[in-house]
Amino acid sequence: MESTIEIIEPKLFSAGVADEIVASVNDCISEKGRCSLVLAGGSTPSQIYRLLARPPRVDEIEWDKLHLYWGDERWVPFDDVQSNFKMVNETWLSQLSGVQPKIHPVNTALASPDESARDYAKVIRENENLKEGELPTFDVVLLGVGEDGHTASLFPGSDIVRQEGGIAFPVKHPVDGSPRVTLSPDTLFSARRVLFIVKGESKADIIKRVITGTDGPDVFPATLFKKVPDRVSWFLDSGAAQKLDLTKR
Ligand code: 6PG
Repeated sequence: MESTIEIIEPKLFSAGVADEIVASVNDCISEKGRCSLVLAGGSTPSQIYRLLARPPRVDEIEWDKLHLYWGDERWVPFDDVQSNFKMVNETWLSQLSGVQPKIHPVNTALASPDESARDYAKVIRENENLKEGELPTFDVVLLGVGEDGHTASLFPGSDIVRQEGGIAFPVKHPVDGSPRVTLSPDTLFSARRVLFIVKGESKADIIKRVITGTDGPDVFPATLFKKVPDRVSWFLDSGAAQKLDLTKR
């Protein structure tokens, strides 16, 4: 079974993805009484998060049954403009006035990225009731794709792309060397649902190469999705999808 691809007009994109997130979370809560949602960083999701904080969608989720995690985090203070926590908090969480979700950000105030990664794995084990060595099965994972084919902080050519097992690891951005913490490939792609959220003409080339090309994860880490296509959905705006020839999948 192949991954599904939904192509949405740019002006309807954020609302369409926000509705899909609400539906996925509610399906999960109806089935299990709780939902674990792993958030993507970067700029694409910010408008989507804003919509989740406003009517009608803000009234459609039982927030106290939702556990929020981050798929990756820049190892900076929580108030740093680079922080994915800051982006999510400003666009979404700070706007929630009633019942709050349970949020589990990466603690970037610890002594090192390595310590933050180890602490994050412990936080995940505790909140997902895992034994030492057990991997989480998150309910929904949101992922973006960079123009170089990275996803979360799994960058081309990095050792982490081949990592087997483990929950969270310290990594460095390949260009500026800035420290980050990322969930591992196995943790991200063992989720029950993975939603890739990609918009803009600037992503058209990489989307074509990731979805229909032959390069593997060392070149384009986002192609890791091909291990679990049946659990992956692509949400693309028409700009990001404009070079995609779906007959070549
Ligand atoms: C990050 C993200 C990263 C992002 C892609 C796409 O921390 O930057 O986790 O993987 O999803 O770089 O970012 P845009 O959606 O902003 O293009």
